[in-house]
Amino acid sequence: MREHSDNLRRNGRTIVFVPTMGYLHEGHLSLMREGLKHGDSLIVSIFINPAQFGPAEDLTTYPRDLGKYIRLAEKEGVDILFTPGEDDLYPGRYQTYVKLEDLPNHLCGINRPVHFRGVATVVTKLFNIVNPHVAVFGQKDYQQLLVIKQMSQDLNFGVRIVGAAIIREPDGLAMSSRNANLKPELRSSALALFKSLNNAQILLKKGIKKASKIIAEISDFISSHPETEIDYVSICDPETLEDMETIEKQALMALAVKVGSVRLIDNIMLIP
Ligand code: PAJ
Repeated sequence: MREHSDNLRRNGRTIVFVPTMGYLHEGHLSLMREGLKHGDSLIVSIFINPAQFGPAEDLTTYPRDLGKYIRLAEKEGVDILFTPGEDDLYPGRYQTYVKLEDLPNHLCGINRPVHFRGVATVVTKLFNIVNPHVAVFGQKDYQQLLVIKQMSQDLNFGVRIVGAAIIREPDGLAMSSRNANLKPELRSSALALFKSLNNAQILLKKGIKKASKIIAEISDFISSHPETEIDYVSICDPETLEDMETIEKQALMALAVKVGSVRLIDNIMLIP
């Protein structure tokens, strides 16, 4: 992979990189399309990164269908599909991890304590191998995007990080590999996430600026749907992820909810 990358650089190509864990859907494909606006050699990786899954999470049931992903990637104009194996990236006696001090202590990091350490580590490794000029990440995983921007700046990676908009199903549900595991009868529960983000913006427009009031209403709305279990509903500073009390400037509203056995996340930028 590094030899390919060196050759591309020598030939004056601008390398754009989209890391994924496979199970490709329109959200991933949109990152590839976005990527091609920023460079002329598109490299996509597929690696289900064990380091970012907690012990009770869905690592073993994460779907794998490489043949299908190759076809999709070819259609999108991907130059190189990089698919390292687990032993390539984490051989025996592996012991080096990248850990951010503050950003992981919020939102998803609270109930997923090893998650962002795993993400930061694997993205560092992939950046070192692929050596891209630009890398694209989805705003669907807003905290992850922030973690990667911060890490790239802190560690002088020299990779420009581009954030891409959330792609949704026609009914508004944010696309996710995990949506396939949703029981059809829980669709309306899953949709409560997107609806509640829109409701929050409406409440704000009506003049309700107190974050706790909006959070309480939204939490009640979500909880009124069957088989929902809220992990968090947060209104916070879009850069530091610190809780906001009153919404006087742009704020991130982010939520994580378990619907049946599937943990879903979504977010929106609230604009007063
Ligand atoms: P994965 O969940 O496969 O997602 C790969 C990329 O697709 C991420 O940047 C994610 O934010 C983006 N994405 C997922 N759903 C999206 C949607 N509905 N709209 C827009 N973008 C979407 O995120 C990971 O993998 C891993 O943590 C990874 C960065 C690859 C490190 O292992």
